[in-house]
Amino acid sequence: MVHRALRLAAPAVVALLAVTTACTGTTVQGRPGASGLRDPFFPKAGNGGYDVRHYGLDLTYEPDTGRLSGTAVLTATATQGLSSFNLDLDGLDVQGVTVQGAGARFNRTGHELTIRPAGELEKGEEFRAEVRYAGRPRTVEDGDGSEEGWIRTDDGAVGVGEPVGSMAWFPGNHHPSDKATYDITLRVPQGYEAVSNGELRSRADDGQGRTVFAWHAAEPMASYLATAAIGRYKISTTRSPGGVPVLNAVVPEEAAGSAPALERLPEVVDWGSRLFGPYPFASAGAIVERSGTLGYALETQTRPVYSGAPEVELVVHETAHQWFGDSVSPASWKDMWLNEGFATYAEWLWSEQHGGVRAQERFEAFLDGDTDVDPSALEDWAAFPPAVPPGPARISDAPVYYRGAMVLHRIRQEAGDEAFFDLVRGWAAERRHGNATTADFTAYAEERTGQDLDEVWDVWLYGQDRPKAPRR
Ligand code: TRP
Ligand code: ZN
Repeated sequence: MVHRALRLAAPAVVALLAVTTACTGTTVQGRPGASGLRDPFFPKAGNGGYDVRHYGLDLTYEPDTGRLSGTAVLTATATQGLSSFNLDLDGLDVQGVTVQGAGARFNRTGHELTIRPAGELEKGEEFRAEVRYAGRPRTVEDGDGSEEGWIRTDDGAVGVGEPVGSMAWFPGNHHPSDKATYDITLRVPQGYEAVSNGELRSRADDGQGRTVFAWHAAEPMASYLATAAIGRYKISTTRSPGGVPVLNAVVPEEAAGSAPALERLPEVVDWGSRLFGPYPFASAGAIVERSGTLGYALETQTRPVYSGAPEVELVVHETAHQWFGDSVSPASWKDMWLNEGFATYAEWLWSEQHGGVRAQERFEAFLDGDTDVDPSALEDWAAFPPAVPPGPARISDAPVYYRGAMVLHRIRQEAGDEAFFDLVRGWAAERRHGNATTADFTAYAEERTGQDLDEVWDVWLYGQDRPKAPRR
């Protein structure tokens, strides 16, 4: 770390260093960081050679024109000597880049923004990269036809990023394996609200017709879970009986319709805390957009985005994601069932613990295609094994959700309730604020329950054939 400053100041030292290393055969020569993390489904998502620790976004948005402008400051650690490194950014104009305060060269190819710092970065060095950018962020169409990225609404916009849309509104290391903390500051015209992840640190008038909202997300977050929502929301705050602060932002049109489900959010947070272990973040809440804005809900960290008034089951689903997906995040996009299987099973558990259908009955309904018990029972839940989606366009398909939930129910059948709930809590604690692969989970499940679960993995999780009702 010291060496870099020295080297810039004293070229003689550089020469000396080069000689020394030539003799020892090692090299201090940096090389370009990889342009992708080789995710099985999104190989170019994320970048190699560094780890982001913190994002500081300071963004101004003009709802009338759709223009976003500002800076992204990344604090990162080089994991190799770097002559250059990439960030992911899809669209927008880059106006300038500095690294360690010094102007850096950059160029762009597709969604790769390549930055060449004035001086090389050493392995282990912490550095600060600042990108100044502006433009009208784009809406990204996913493999399955749904929209993400930056989505304009009647009176504002919302940024959502699963799986790869966040690069449409800020530059970064856009892969869930590189989690970081965030400070997101949003500057919007007076009369608008601007909501993001975490806690509102301040809300101020900038004296020039704008309101400045400073949001702080203290716990590590995968970039696909970041959000910025601008609009004329009704804001309400409360606290769960267990003490978790809740902040909801709801478009006026959906306020009445959302009330029944949102009134239960504090209870859902505490229910999850009892079942899955302590709520993993410093706050909770919801952002409710008009119906049709997204066509889906997203578990953006601490504050999920809903597209229209949610039912309580959907609130349960997105809240469960705070443990499974947000705190324990997938190591790759192939491990999606670790998110959706758990969040779906949480709905099944909520139902059976609140006088509704029991999970066993629902499990059987899927096997039998009984839509009286669950309207989704006839969806093609067996089309592929949840741990092996056939491709990136299929990670939000029925098997990832329902067969994923059935995997968990099979574990419960084998291990019994006590060991099963101990496993669920243990898993959330073991990988809290981290990442996990499917193999991490199966190993942990066997160790924690003491059961041989090979049949569950072979037939339900990895098997190509439609599973049959287990003999019991
Ligand atoms: N994660 C969301 C949910 O179930 C659904 C979703 C939105 C999704 N976008 C996606 C799933 C992209 C996979 C990929 O709550
Ligand atoms: Zn989900």
